[in-house]
Amino acid sequence: MSPMISSSIALLMSLSVSSTAAAAATANCTYASRAHINQVFSGLTNGNFSAFFSNVVDDVDWNVQGTHPLAGRYANKSLFIVNAVDRLARSQNLNFPDTITLVNVVGGCDEEWSVEELREQAVLKNGETFQLWPLRDGPRLNLSSGLTFDNTYAWATRWDTQQQIVQVRAYLDSALVAKSIFENELSTNSTYHTPRTVLEPGSC
Ligand SMILES: *[C@@H]1O[C@H](CO)[C@@H](O)[C@H](O)[C@H]1NC(C)=O
Ligand SMILES: *[C@@H]1O[C@H](CO)[C@@H](O)[C@H](O)[C@H]1NC(C)=O
Ligand SMILES: *[C@@H]1O[C@H](CO)[C@@H](O)[C@H](O)[C@H]1NC(C)=O
Ligand SMILES: *[C@@H]1O[C@H](CO)[C@@H](O)[C@H](O)[C@H]1NC(C)=O
Ligand SMILES: *[C@@H]1O[C@H](CO)[C@@H](O)[C@H](O)[C@H]1NC(C)=O
Repeated sequence: MSPMISSSIALLMSLSVSSTAAAAATANCTYASRAHINQVFSGLTNGNFSAFFSNVVDDVDWNVQGTHPLAGRYANKSLFIVNAVDRLARSQNLNFPDTITLVNVVGGCDEEWSVEELREQAVLKNGETFQLWPLRDGPRLNLSSGLTFDNTYAWATRWDTQQQIVQVRAYLDSALVAKSIFENELSTNSTYHTPRTVLEPGSC
């Protein structure tokens, strides 16, 4: 799974979408009910990536939109985790929490597709002093170093009748991902002296 990320994420805020009312209203859904979608995405918002990815089929078709080093169509779950999720995690300063918030959910139930709007806030390895404000009421984080990574996502997500995610088209802030990778990925600030003795993520 994604040990780098899952070990680093701390829960700062609770899931913002109430699932109780939705559970009663959508118990007979053909596809994922709103309550189920909230439950699955609580894996991301709680920092339990294993729990989230256990609801994604192995041969998921995951298309990261945009024009940046992580954009592309990932042919299965492990390719997406290793080549996109873990690669981005390597640009983070893992001494600071990575906060993912589920902002909104659209669709699901009798619709094969749903859309999840997400916000991810993290601290990158480079950068300057700043203070990070949580979305909701709560303690203000006082961070001493690192550039903010504050990205918003819209995931168009297709579910099968077993309530598993089979396809995602993830829309995001390309410029921020590109900047994060270029300024923090160790292998990109290389020179002709740099030894090339290990396989990089995405190289095979
Ligand atoms: C599903 O729908 C059927 C028929 O309308 C109903 O009898 C049943 O109670 C519903 N199940 C749930 C869990 O709501
Ligand atoms: C993460 O979720 C899995 C599956 O639901 C569960 O077995 C595990 O205990 C959870 N881990 C944590 C740290 O909560
Ligand atoms: C994903 O594809 C890669 C490359 O073909 C393969 O090595 C890996 O085992 C596959 N993983 C899954 C979960 O299918
Ligand atoms: C945050 O850090 C600044 C500078 O070190 C300090 O003056 C301030 O008291 C800190 N705030 C909190 C809430 O810890
Ligand atoms: C890239 O920059 C980082 C941080 O300054 C440094 O630790 C690392 O050695 C550099 N890597 C290369 C290949 O130059």
